[in-house]
Amino acid sequence: MNILILGSGGREHCLAWKLSQSKKINNIFAIPGNAGIAQIAECTALPINKDNFPSILEFIKNNNIDFTIVGPEAPLVEGITDYLEGNGHAVFGPSKDAAKIEGSKVFTKKFAVRNNIPGAKAYFFKKNDYEKAKEFIEGLDAASYPWVIKADGLASGKGVLICNSRHELLEALKDFFIENLFGKSGEEIIIEEFIEGFELSIMCICDGKRIIPMEPAQDYKRIFDNDKGKNTGGMGSFSPLPFVDNVLQKKILERIIFPTFESLKKEGIIYKGILYGGIIIKDNEPYLLEYNCRFGDPETQVVLPRLDNDLLELLVNAGTGNLGSTELAWSAKKCVCVVIASKGYPETFSKGDIIYGIKDYSNKSDTLVFHAGTSMDKGNIVTNGGRVLNIVSQDKTFNGAIEKNYNKIKNINFDGMQYRNDIARKVAEK
Ligand code: GLY
Repeated sequence: MNILILGSGGREHCLAWKLSQSKKINNIFAIPGNAGIAQIAECTALPINKDNFPSILEFIKNNNIDFTIVGPEAPLVEGITDYLEGNGHAVFGPSKDAAKIEGSKVFTKKFAVRNNIPGAKAYFFKKNDYEKAKEFIEGLDAASYPWVIKADGLASGKGVLICNSRHELLEALKDFFIENLFGKSGEEIIIEEFIEGFELSIMCICDGKRIIPMEPAQDYKRIFDNDKGKNTGGMGSFSPLPFVDNVLQKKILERIIFPTFESLKKEGIIYKGILYGGIIIKDNEPYLLEYNCRFGDPETQVVLPRLDNDLLELLVNAGTGNLGSTELAWSAKKCVCVVIASKGYPETFSKGDIIYGIKDYSNKSDTLVFHAGTSMDKGNIVTNGGRVLNIVSQDKTFNGAIEKNYNKIKNINFDGMQYRNDIARKVAEK
């Protein structure tokens, strides 16, 4: 089969790497891809926004592509699956209607409430309710903080703010409704209770009829060690999660994930693709934080290396409604990912810095280098984004995987590179 991967991050490099191991693969194409993906796929620089869906279809036809896998959320929310399927092309990724699960936090919260899916208590406000929202905040008990404020729409991971005081919450409200920092995405907001606990991600493969959970993973959202500093897209991850036993896993699936899939169906939404649950655990009880409509980044990078199934077969079967009685098989190895980011990330970051130490590296050992924000410039691999590289190692123990990662990182260098030193260390100590 010839396949097309849409996207340009570490997630998409990992997908391309895993798909390249399939017996059924012929050629892999990527739009736009990155310097690492280009080592295993033919990359073409085309935009993947709605205006360009017709050019993507033309590309698919011209290159005899049989199947497309959509990486990021934005084209899914804009309806790329509907567009391509409507033109006779098979896709892995949910329809526009189903992608609302990530595209609209208001939709998802209201859906969760009416279907009794456990989560934080939430209050909804539209832009013209600014005064009402202010009054609501002024009425909140000082002892009840923190509160969380969320933009309804997509905001590249920046639309969720945790506010520790009335002042912070009022300032955040202004950012949304007066300063318009989040544009259209912030025209409706949710103010929600904060749940204290630990988070995990569970990605499930769906074919419209069946939902198959993959092994859970945990990611690290803050830029600095010990969860300090600003939120990022994710600075590291690990899987499996030894602290999630069968009883807790069963609660997550039976109270949150399975009822969501069935309730979507009852409400007329046939979900195909990845349903990714962001779950928080408090006192051993799970609560839904959010859903995403695509593979997680960097969770994918620690889950797919442990998957023993043929990924192409799995994604094609899911995309065409044919998962049947498929079962997933997992390696018992521990997998850890450290993200290396650019100078300045997650705020304005530099681009074009030469990356030393990875040019001739091929992903053939237990340590993998997935490219995220990279490109080629005059024969050099250079930085081209906030998150630049993902170093992923597998080992019998977490300590072994951690050691392999940080040993590999010693050989990599670019101006201002930054990464966390504490990825998976706590879980290794347990
Ligand atoms: N790691 C968080 C996400 O993929 O949204």
